[in-house]
Amino acid sequence: MKIKSLELSCFRNYKSLCLNFSGGVNILYGDNAQGKTNILEAVCVCATTRSQKGSREKEMIQLGQEEAHIRMYVEKGGIEHKLDMHLKKGKAKTAALDGVPIRKSSELYGMVHIISFSPEDLSIVKDGPAERRRMVDMELCQLDRIYLHQLTQYNKLLEQRNNLLRQISSDSGLSDTLSVWNEQLAEYGKQIIKARGAFIAELNELVGPLHERLSGGRESLSLRYEPNVMPEEFLSLLQKDRDRELILKSTLHGPHRDDISFFFGENDMRKYGSQGQQRTSALSVKLAEIELVRKKIKDDPVLLLDDVLSELDRSRQKQLLDNIKEIQTVITCTGLEEFVKERIHSDHIYHVVQGTVEQ
Ligand SMILES: Nc1ncnc2c1ncn2[C@@H]1O[C@H](COP(=O)(O)OP(=O)(O)OP(=O)(O)O)[C@@H](O)[C@H]1O
Ligand SMILES: [Mg+2]
Repeated sequence: MKIKSLELSCFRNYKSLCLNFSGGVNILYGDNAQGKTNILEAVCVCATTRSQKGSREKEMIQLGQEEAHIRMYVEKGGIEHKLDMHLKKGKAKTAALDGVPIRKSSELYGMVHIISFSPEDLSIVKDGPAERRRMVDMELCQLDRIYLHQLTQYNKLLEQRNNLLRQISSDSGLSDTLSVWNEQLAEYGKQIIKARGAFIAELNELVGPLHERLSGGRESLSLRYEPNVMPEEFLSLLQKDRDRELILKSTLHGPHRDDISFFFGENDMRKYGSQGQQRTSALSVKLAEIELVRKKIKDDPVLLLDDVLSELDRSRQKQLLDNIKEIQTVITCTGLEEFVKERIHSDHIYHVVQGTVEQ
């Protein structure tokens, strides 16, 4: 799969933009705050319906405007498709595939598979658990449309259940309805836990050899899924902890509290790893993700590298670049520094200046 072109209207700092991508390496360079990341965000939103930064829809609409449009022409299996995404203030976004409106965002899935990599991803080991869950969910939602549905339902139910817990404190008559919510939450939650467990196990198999190579054979890395609750115990735990939840007015158990840990040998990377070890681990996880996706979708994903090369030393840069050959990549950087000139063969180079792009 490849992205052929991108068109924007009133998206972030782009009044209007039309950009052709090459199927190889595309470099967007420019000073800070010119609109490089915004282009990657538009690609990510159009392909996956979600921002890699986790932004809200209204934030992506140009200030002072009511709507934003993103259009992408993509090629998959030799056929060209048109994707349209329409963001509206105060309304749900709408999308169309080849001009036909789609009802569920999951209908877009499989068209373009995005893997994004930014400096924030390099601190995934030491960040909070929410960032690690987001990394897993961003990938699983693209790989598995059933997971996307389950996660969406789970998050809705969780919000409604938390609202109910707050309401019960002023209206105890509502407490009987809690058991219905428990059952539904546990049903979706169990599926999420199982899917995350399987995904992390697969990622773990690939990450070991990759990390060994990256660390020059010095270190082993393994990932461990730390579910907050085991699937078979979820429902009974919700029932058991009901009184405590009513006091705290919050759902205390479930995959919304899951975590993933990183181990080198028997040591926890979060607690004992140096900053460099943690960043190399993050890179290994990203490379494992690329490999896993290629295996699963039997195609190449599209890679978005946001300002990440300058964060890596020469040998890590080389490892990354060697691993992404043949993958369509969009790279942002602030200058065409020596690493770009010398070591990356780029097909298209764009200069981004205040919401305009010159080839
Ligand atoms: N909704 C919006 N409407 C208009 N402008 C916006 C909106 N959201 C963000 N911007 C502006 O977009 C500009 C560019 O942001 P972007 O994150 O793409 O910069 P960048 O080129 O990636 O910079 P850096 O090198 O610092 O990462 C910022 O100046 C920001 O103020
Ligand atoms: Mg940026």
